[in-house]
Amino acid sequence: MFAQLPEAPIDPILGMAQAFARDPSPDKVDLGIGIYKDEHGEVIVLPTVKAAERALVEGQSTKRYLSSAGNPEYNERTRGLLFREGSDAHARARTIQTVGGTGALRVAADFIGKFGTGKRIFLPDPTWANHPAIFGVAGFEIVNYPYYDIATGTLKLDEMMSALADLRAGDTVLLHGCCHNPSGADPSAAQWAEIADAVARSGATPLVDLAYLGFAEGLEEDRQGLAILAERLPEMIVASSCSKNFALYRERTGALTVVGANPGQADTALGNLLPVVRTNYSMPPDHGAAIVAHILGDATLRATWEQELAAMRNRIRDMRHELVRLLSGNNRRDYSFLAGQHGMFAMLGISGDAVRRLREEWHVHVTGSSRANIAGLTPRNVEHVAQAIAAVS
Ligand code: LMR
Repeated sequence: MFAQLPEAPIDPILGMAQAFARDPSPDKVDLGIGIYKDEHGEVIVLPTVKAAERALVEGQSTKRYLSSAGNPEYNERTRGLLFREGSDAHARARTIQTVGGTGALRVAADFIGKFGTGKRIFLPDPTWANHPAIFGVAGFEIVNYPYYDIATGTLKLDEMMSALADLRAGDTVLLHGCCHNPSGADPSAAQWAEIADAVARSGATPLVDLAYLGFAEGLEEDRQGLAILAERLPEMIVASSCSKNFALYRERTGALTVVGANPGQADTALGNLLPVVRTNYSMPPDHGAAIVAHILGDATLRATWEQELAAMRNRIRDMRHELVRLLSGNNRRDYSFLAGQHGMFAMLGISGDAVRRLREEWHVHVTGSSRANIAGLTPRNVEHVAQAIAAVS
């Protein structure tokens, strides 16, 4: 079997690490994979995570198995991060721990494949490169709906709404909860309501990918889309991640939350998720979830974590504005649209050839779709990056 295998394809995001490592330039800048770097370009372990790890080393008395749902405290506290405690949506939500946000998406795909009445998923165009791959391998038919206009840097709301009119019962529609990846362009509250109403009319199920909670405006503000959807729709699935907001990337700490029409239906949905997990990886590894549960369960650590999150968010926002300032008025493209967008990513909207020139001539690495990780900009490299973008635009 192995002898006949074709050469394996290179992942459009993870595969960039090799190209970056091979670049010999001392001025090279990695704006590829979505990872937060501090002002020195370092990917640090958050102090609250270190504190939680110390507490776990001292306090943990057993490594016995948990259930397929993972760490129960983590699940409870994640549910509270997604939905305001005491709200109707919170009462109708049930959460299981998953192997990162990617694992949550894959469990969701298998769950829908097993119990759903359709296997068609609407994905925004553009979207995270792994979305079509995950749902494709899980046997879904993929329909792309217009979302973002790369040329103007704005949402394609009208086109999106007419594409969503084709949704029917049994379909799934994937929505980015905040900090849309790769564009950084998010719907306003009014637009969320319009989207929610369109999905409600169709009878389709929304699957919300929420990998960047806290990176746009704040924890409360960033869950607004989720709250609007939950208010207007009986059912919803949410794939969330602690990779970014707790900087736990390699610990693969994610969650899958089902919101049912009532708490009983949510309990049943959760029960049916467990065999999907059991036949896949049995249960998720505990460490990352135990860290998050510890931080969220300790008032002081939680407050400190919220400050750490705000510091990451604010640094990204400052770098975004600095890049826009440096690019203003000195090249052929107006980049001011970047200032109104959110989170780690921005689409430069330059050609594939310009992306190649950025890499080969300027040693600035962005993904092939011209997505730049704004969180990789620092006061030291931002001028070089702006110069490079101006030169190739
Ligand atoms: C990204 O889009 O860069 C991140 O979500 C990391 C990944 O797994 O692709």
